[in-house]
Amino acid sequence: MGRILVTEEDIAGAIEELAGAITRDYLHKRLLLVGVLKGSFIFLADLMRALPMEFEVDFLAVSSYGGGTTSSGTVRILKDLDTNIQDRHVLLVEDIVDSGLTLSYLMRMLKARRPASLRLCSLLDKPASRKKEVSIDYLGFTVPSEFLVGYGLDLQEKYRGLPYIATWQG
Ligand code: IMP
Ligand code: MG
Repeated sequence: MGRILVTEEDIAGAIEELAGAITRDYLHKRLLLVGVLKGSFIFLADLMRALPMEFEVDFLAVSSYGGGTTSSGTVRILKDLDTNIQDRHVLLVEDIVDSGLTLSYLMRMLKARRPASLRLCSLLDKPASRKKEVSIDYLGFTVPSEFLVGYGLDLQEKYRGLPYIATWQG
């Protein structure tokens, strides 16, 4: 492990702020939170418990990395939504936007299903690695272009359970 970049306290503070903004925007709407598995499951679990409003939750599972530390650019849908999102207010919840390839693909795919609205909430943004433009409506932290682990982020399925986000140095 490298150094701790985002502490447990930093994460808790960001979640409070994000939950406040989301609640203001969606209070009178029927919100569907869509977690992008696997990386977002811890962030989504904490975020949803900070939301003092009604909502539903669904998941998508994608694979964009072939097990290494750089994006392959190929997005595979491993599990699609259970919910019909036509006319629904959809908020996609991600752990990190890196190259943007996964998110731009997912946003395009979901938009084609004609939701009432479609926005993106990401805990982390690594803008220096961007290959495809992605607009993040609700963002926790901007991070440098290093490989990160913890709080849902993995390296070959390890380190997801760390309560903080750290840089990886092999
Ligand atoms: P993108 O398509 O390059 O934007 O990558 C999106 C996905 O790659 C994220 O949802 C993560 O699952 C994974 N990813 C990107 N950067 C990191 C990292 O630093 N650590 C762990 N996973 C990452
Ligand atoms: Mg992910």
